[in-house]
Amino acid sequence: MLKRYLLIQTLILATGVFMPAQSSTTLKDAYHGAFYIGVAINADQITGQDARGAKIVAEQFDSITPENALKWERVHPQPNTYDFSLSDQYVALGEKHHMFIVGHTLVWHSQTPDWVFQDTQGKPIRREALLTRLHDHIFTVVGRYKGRIQSWDVANEALNDDGTMRDSKWKQIIGDDYLIKAYQWTHEADPSAELNYNDYSLELPAKRQGAVELVKKLQAAGIKVAVVGVQGHDNLDWPSTASEDETIDVFAKLGVKVAITELDIDVLPAVESHTADISLHIKSDLRLNPYPKELPDAVQKDLARRYADLFGIFLKHRDVMSRVTLWGVTDADSWRNDWPVKGRTSYPLLWDRAGNPKLAYDAVIKASRQ
Ligand code: XIL
Repeated sequence: MLKRYLLIQTLILATGVFMPAQSSTTLKDAYHGAFYIGVAINADQITGQDARGAKIVAEQFDSITPENALKWERVHPQPNTYDFSLSDQYVALGEKHHMFIVGHTLVWHSQTPDWVFQDTQGKPIRREALLTRLHDHIFTVVGRYKGRIQSWDVANEALNDDGTMRDSKWKQIIGDDYLIKAYQWTHEADPSAELNYNDYSLELPAKRQGAVELVKKLQAAGIKVAVVGVQGHDNLDWPSTASEDETIDVFAKLGVKVAITELDIDVLPAVESHTADISLHIKSDLRLNPYPKELPDAVQKDLARRYADLFGIFLKHRDVMSRVTLWGVTDADSWRNDWPVKGRTSYPLLWDRAGNPKLAYDAVIKASRQ
């Protein structure tokens, strides 16, 4: 009897048929205790239309950001017209999975309709009128999700690359204090929500210095900035791990946490480095789109190594890192297929177009065990 049992066991082990699944983990489990692992989700993932993507989101991540669903043009497309149909589902999804839910974003120069800055004749409105609109928007949107959205990217991309304030319509019409108002009102609308400042290319010393001064100015006005969000629309060779390391240190000294809020790593030829200006539109050609069918193994490995190196830096700073969020689930979902060059085949994320985890996924999991 025992002999027969042993024989069966040997067979099972040899064929592997009844072997337990190989010790598998998920991103959120691998980084549990260090920082949240988040992902930006699109409309199809929010509604579940993209079942494959939604499954990956639920299994692998413990934080979500809406890729577009909470931007002004989506929730507040017309004066006095709010549309929360998608953002309500977004927040419900995060609650269902007990995720850390991020709101993105309240004051930005992009994806904000023209009417916001104009009167009915199309002429620019004045400071008081724009402040009233901003106040209404913030209290309506933040108030609706009070106690449910834990963290708000209050302002997005308010700085130029040289560290000066971006000359947006917000600044032109209201003046520099539009930011102070936005942060104060967000806090009033939901005192429990974290207040973030989010921007790209913060690894550039001048821009980083501008962000430091901005955070100090907000702090001096009595605002508790909780997190500086470093977007992280990176390339294989920019930013260097040394400058990422330094950037996190510089912000941590301000007494805030740091989050990587929009991580993706492009392997395609860079046309405009060090920016995430979404108004850039460059026409594609063969030279700019070298891998229209698949990514060569060597580049796949470069990408994996690059992800591991960056996660190594994030882990080194785990005491001040609150979250690392990827800007999309699969390569097919990524905005980088169309930015800064339209119509390229880009490979910046951790899952491929078929929904399979890439070498970079394994590298990120492995990096957690350092
Ligand atoms: C991008 C989205 O991914 C695209 O779908 C949209 O068309 C444009 O905006 N910085 C940000 C994000 O803060 O909101 C942007 O998201 C990418 C750059």
